[in-house]
Amino acid sequence: MSRAVASTLILFGATGDLAARMLLPSLYGLDADGLLPKELAVVATARTQQNDAGYREHVVAALRDHAPGGLFDERTAERFAERFRYVPLDAQDGDGFQRLAEALGDEAGEVAIFLSTAPSLFKPTIDNLEAAGLAGPNVRLALEKPLGTDLASSREINDAVAAAYTEEQTFRIDHYLGKETVQNLLALRFANILFEPLWSAQHIEHVQITIAETVGLEKRGDYYDGTGALRDMVQNHMLQLLALVAMEPPASFDATAIRDEKVKVLRSLRPLTPERIEREVVTGQYAPGAVASQPVPGYSDELSRQSATETFVALRAHVDNWRWAGVPFYLRTGKRMPERRTEIVIQFRQVPHSMFASRGARTVPNRLIISIQPEENIALELMAKLPGLDRGGIRLREVALDIDQPHAFSDVRRRIAYERLLLDLLEGDPTLFVRRDEVEAQWQWIDGVRAAWTAAGMAPRPYAAGNWGPSAAIALAERDGVSWND
Ligand code: BG6
Repeated sequence: MSRAVASTLILFGATGDLAARMLLPSLYGLDADGLLPKELAVVATARTQQNDAGYREHVVAALRDHAPGGLFDERTAERFAERFRYVPLDAQDGDGFQRLAEALGDEAGEVAIFLSTAPSLFKPTIDNLEAAGLAGPNVRLALEKPLGTDLASSREINDAVAAAYTEEQTFRIDHYLGKETVQNLLALRFANILFEPLWSAQHIEHVQITIAETVGLEKRGDYYDGTGALRDMVQNHMLQLLALVAMEPPASFDATAIRDEKVKVLRSLRPLTPERIEREVVTGQYAPGAVASQPVPGYSDELSRQSATETFVALRAHVDNWRWAGVPFYLRTGKRMPERRTEIVIQFRQVPHSMFASRGARTVPNRLIISIQPEENIALELMAKLPGLDRGGIRLREVALDIDQPHAFSDVRRRIAYERLLLDLLEGDPTLFVRRDEVEAQWQWIDGVRAAWTAAGMAPRPYAAGNWGPSAAIALAERDGVSWND
């Protein structure tokens, strides 16, 4: 595997939304801190016909709108934009790729290619890249989701990639892995002695993972309606979070060691069958309602047609191995929820015997709450005694031991997830990218869920926008005596 730093980055889909909102601001943020290789040239491509100057203006405009807080400066942005050249390109047009290769010249050095285009263009793009000599050992390829819509289509994409690039050259993006608190989960689990002895069915009663968003369709109807919450969020981000929570300790911070452990978890997910599906999964679709006191339309109104696509899913998963036997993992994600919140809750078990019961005190089981966004925070809820002379009995209360990340590390700028991922791509470090076997294990499980809900004739239940999904989602957890952390 080549670990030389790339001196050329080719950006496919360079006029798209992801480029404007995330990729260009991330490159700019890295550049501002002197982290981009000095000689790095970026070749932007898309179908739009324009010249270098036109694209450079687009770069500056995108940064004006989306540069990380306080970092935008017109002059610096213009200087940064000089790294960019633009080659208009149609994925189907082989000659265009020859021109692209010529534009790179013979001295391209290490090349990183980032595909942020519709997945239907992956195969023709890769075929044309290979034909144009852009698949040699000096090239690495990053792919943005969606990597297929099911296992079969994901395999097709992976096969097309594998025909031109080795797995070591392939960088599949799940932007959640670029988030600071997600990586901090590894530090929390494996850089502290405290948690690992407790991290199993013996001491953990259940795990909750929530990714709640307040946004609705965001003009992404074409993509989203053919996808739905299960495939948009659970298949990738949520299963990656679950894998990081549940995996065995890797031997080193190394791409193979970490991904080997994650894939074992993903393969241990208990398949959901049609007989069990209605007890294990609830889907929903938002109806008109209000988010942050603002009225918002329902999903089908935004879409301008009726649809059976789920915008919410809650489910109970099990990881069938020794460590997690009998521990439910409750996952839920939805659009138009009351607030934006991504968090992992580790619910520990009750103490085996409370000596305080005889003095009238109640003990509440400990919880570890890992907040990923909007705030980054890790809170361990512990029982403590209320100060006093206890004449009327001992009173205990939960207090949180907090690691307020931004506060603890206030001198460090919070990075966009893509800053980390782009830098790792340029430097050739695949640790935070998803390996083929992981993606395929994720799809295998998700396909099972979809097949089961189709066989059971399940349809999404309506929920008013601004709620935590349909009430059946509450019942899903409450049947086990569990409340969602709302
Ligand atoms: C994307 C999904 O992968 O993740 C979007 O396609 C979703 O539907 C987004 O809004 C959420 O990402 P983040 O980083 O804002 O939590």
